[in-house]
Amino acid sequence: MADKEAATGGTVTAKGLEGVTAGSTALSLIEGQVGRLSYRGYDINDLANNASFEEVCYLLWFGDLPTRSQLVDLGNQLRSYRELPGAILDLLRLFPHEATPMDVLRTAVSALSMFDPDAGDGSREANIRRAMRLTAQFPTIVAAFDRIRNRKEPLAPNPALGHAANFLYMLTGEEPAEKSAHILDIALVLHADHGFNASTFAARVAAGTLADMYSAITAAIGTLKGPLHGGANEQVMRTLLSLGAVDKVRPFVEESLTSKRKIMGFGHRVYKADDPRAIMLRELSRNLAESTGNRKWFEMSERMRETMEELKPNLPVNVDFYSASVYYTLGIPVDLFTPVFAISRVSGWTAHVLEQYADNRLIRPDADYIGPRNRDFKPVDER
Ligand SMILES: CC(C)(COP(=O)(O)OP(=O)(O)OC[C@H]1O[C@@H](n2cnc3c(N)ncnc32)[C@H](O)[C@@H]1OP(=O)(O)O)[C@@H](O)C(=O)NCCC(=O)NCCS
Repeated sequence: MADKEAATGGTVTAKGLEGVTAGSTALSLIEGQVGRLSYRGYDINDLANNASFEEVCYLLWFGDLPTRSQLVDLGNQLRSYRELPGAILDLLRLFPHEATPMDVLRTAVSALSMFDPDAGDGSREANIRRAMRLTAQFPTIVAAFDRIRNRKEPLAPNPALGHAANFLYMLTGEEPAEKSAHILDIALVLHADHGFNASTFAARVAAGTLADMYSAITAAIGTLKGPLHGGANEQVMRTLLSLGAVDKVRPFVEESLTSKRKIMGFGHRVYKADDPRAIMLRELSRNLAESTGNRKWFEMSERMRETMEELKPNLPVNVDFYSASVYYTLGIPVDLFTPVFAISRVSGWTAHVLEQYADNRLIRPDADYIGPRNRDFKPVDER
């Protein structure tokens, strides 16, 4: 909310930029009051129910859903870009096995800039190829590091598999069940873009200086990592694991609210109604609980949501709440949850960077200076 007139110039200061429109986008529209999200005019529910992640990538990068042949071409291009340069694999082997996977992803993406086949080419065509390469390579980086830290050889990508299925294959060494791949694919669709969220905004700020796409995406990964943003999905699962049983949930919620501790997976800057992504992820979580017979995490999540609805009805669940139990039931390690978010969101980040380059102006807000003024300087020996 615009909350303060700055001392100079009469400009308005909005802490956290709440309520500030910082630019234009044709990529996604969030209608927070009614809980609706659309990508380029298509409702997220229609896309999640009917489109693959690859179709959504095409939609975000090019503006329209692909024809059959455009989709085949994009799929082939993404497959051809999945492998990592040998030096990046060597780099992954150098990292401590205890490293945080988001740090690994951020560092590997930063390093990829030095192996860019389009180095020196700032054209839109080159940047579209970069967007595709980054999107294709994110799953390879995340899966390769997970195998390395578990003392296994990274697996070559499987060109017979789509984006989601190939990630699960590279992670586990087994072709995933169709249902698991489909559920992950839906989760990727749901996470692909979301207006000027913090990591996307970070990417656009970097791109606004005309820095390269790798710099922008590296900034975005670092920003997504925080627990108030993408890092929340890991924290949701850690909370559920530490509680361990449905009857522990209510006391935890009551105690957290009393001591004013934030409960991860609840609240949102923009949504005042239910987050439509959370509604779909809840169904996926329920579906997985029923098909695997492992109902514990879904039931604990339900209890937490019901308790929050009763005690804090203005804090609905967000995208990170049910994605936690979905990823856990799919067998994805907890510290890969935020990297999985990044595997999807890189499509939106790169689309925003392309959009920023296409109509660029440096992003440079004012600051409300609240420090002392007009101080007399004293030499060091007189202080
Ligand atoms: C998402 C989030 C960062 C939005 O932040 P914001 O718009 O800046 O809102 P604030 O953090 O200022 O919260 C406003 C009030 O609601 C409370 N609140 C917000 N989220 C809360 C949560 N998850 N649990 C408990 N209280 C919460 C704050 O403590 C604050 O209370 P106060 O007015 O008494 O100080 C915030 O809701 C949050 O931290 N959620 C948990 C982390 C999370 O799930 N992030 C993923 C977002 S997709």
